Amino acid sequence: MYINLKLHIFLFITSVSCQQCSFEKPDRSKLSEDEIKYGIILPSILDTDQPGKPVLTYITTGVTKIIQSTTTSASQRYFMTPSFDSDIFQVTLANDFKDYEIYETKAAMSIRVYFECGGGINKTDFEIIQPINDTNNHDPQFVNLPYSYKLSMPLPQNIPLHLLSGISARDVDLSNQKITFFLNNSDVNSQGFFAAWLSTDQTDNKLHRASLTTTAVINLKNDFSFKIYARDTGTVPRTVSTSVTIIVDKDNSVLRFEKPIYIADCSDLQPEVANGTIFTFDQGDISLSAGADNSVKYFLQEESREYQDNFYLIKKSDASVRLQLINPPKKIFNESFVLLTLNASKPGADDVTVIHISFPGRSTSKNSSISSTEANKTEPYNDDSTSTVTITVLGVFLAIVTIVLVVMIVLYWRRTRSIVTEKVNGIQEKKEEMIEIDRDSPHPVSSGRRSVAFNDIVEEIKIARL
Ligand SMILES: *[C@@H]1O[C@H](CO)[C@@H](O)[C@H](O)[C@H]1NC(C)=O
Ligand SMILES: *[C@@H]1O[C@H](CO)[C@@H](O)[C@H](O)[C@H]1NC(C)=O
Ligand SMILES: *[C@@H]1O[C@H](CO)[C@@H](O)[C@H](O)[C@H]1NC(C)=O
Ligand SMILES: *[C@@H]1O[C@H](CO)[C@@H](O)[C@H](O)[C@H]1NC(C)=O
Ligand SMILES: *[C@@H]1O[C@H](CO)[C@@H](O)[C@H](O)[C@H]1NC(C)=O
Repeated sequence: MYINLKLHIFLFITSVSCQQCSFEKPDRSKLSEDEIKYGIILPSILDTDQPGKPVLTYITTGVTKIIQSTTTSASQRYFMTPSFDSDIFQVTLANDFKDYEIYETKAAMSIRVYFECGGGINKTDFEIIQPINDTNNHDPQFVNLPYSYKLSMPLPQNIPLHLLSGISARDVDLSNQKITFFLNNSDVNSQGFFAAWLSTDQTDNKLHRASLTTTAVINLKNDFSFKIYARDTGTVPRTVSTSVTIIVDKDNSVLRFEKPIYIADCSDLQPEVANGTIFTFDQGDISLSAGADNSVKYFLQEESREYQDNFYLIKKSDASVRLQLINPPKKIFNESFVLLTLNASKPGADDVTVIHISFPGRSTSKNSSISSTEANKTEPYNDDSTSTVTITVLGVFLAIVTIVLVVMIVLYWRRTRSIVTEKVNGIQEKKEEMIEIDRDSPHPVSSGRRSVAFNDIVEEIKIARL
């Protein structure tokens, strides 16, 4: 009976010891009840440690197998691999550990391992906590790069470009707190811009947003780009850069007249009805094909400055203007043409177009021969009534003189032939003069006009003589 009891006690003790799992650390100490209850904190490892590295090796007693293991990581990934073989329980770094910082933000990882003890009679489990020391082993990385902005010029000051399209960078390093953003001060292209850290993302605290604003009015005609830099906060900071491209929205920024020149033919314009004439151009209305808005100002300049006050600009719309002739002086009808330049400008942009208006005056084109028919054609447009009268009187006077002369020649011819030859030579000399004046005509308008006037007189003489 006593022996039997003793055996029972022995068997009981044996079975208890077999039911229990026990773990022996490398320093030969046993895993304590508290460690099993609250978890085992391993010595720190580096984030740069390689997969396969053993972080824990225990000699077990009574363990038959690992039932399961769970991970406590936010990403549900296993960064440590538990294994059990020949009474040795080992934990090594899993393959995913190399990406730990990409998925996790905590400076420690853990798994819980469940063991079967004594062939299924008992179970035990504990948590293995592995602290990780961060090294600055990752570059910050720009997100959604490269950055480009299509903008119309001029670009005003204090424009927050980051609101149009965000600039951000991510740094996965566990201990990284912030990313600083900046531009290269010595880069001409980035002048007028300013970049800075703006905020940390609400949900992804590894993501940092940058601000990019204009510090001056930017007005460039062509696309340009500059670099933006992101720097993390390690003891040895890492810096990366990417490009920011500004694409100039040419359609909406540059002021442009639809046509470089507008031509109106007013060579039949009658002085009596000329006042208030609104010119019509072969090219259509004077208008802006790009960049028109209510800030556009027009400035008209008449090239000779003589008729500056005789042209009046009527604004039809922001993009279109009309040109009116006001109180034209008599002499404008003697001009063959009037040239005007029209300047449209708004802050940071301008364009110029040329306006060419033909007037009834004699053409001063390269076509050098001014025929007598042309000279006669201008006659009706010459509104200067006093000069017309003068010419008529002069013409009649000269005609009388010529008739008298002819009569005298006839009278003298009867007496002697030599005098007649002299007179004929005199007329021929005048003819030569006329040719000379003709040659002058391609020269400046005023001299051309004067020569034409004189030419007309000569023409009268010629007609009268005939
Ligand atoms: C800044 O810009 C200047 C001029 O373009 C260039 O020489 C320099 O290398 C740039 N600095 C950096 C850090 O890129
Ligand atoms: C010419 O027209 C303008 C406006 O159309 C008018 O103010 C001006 O008095 C006119 N001049 C003459 C001489 O009729
Ligand atoms: C216009 O030209 C004619 C000659 O064609 C000249 O007699 C007249 O004086 C000129 N008028 C003015 C205002 O210049
Ligand atoms: C047009 O006018 C503006 C303002 O008066 C001036 O700044 C600009 O130089 C002019 N442009 C041209 C081409 O004359
Ligand atoms: C000059 O004008 C005449 C007729 O007016 C024309 O036949 C001739 O081709 C013109 N010459 C030039 C060089 O324009």
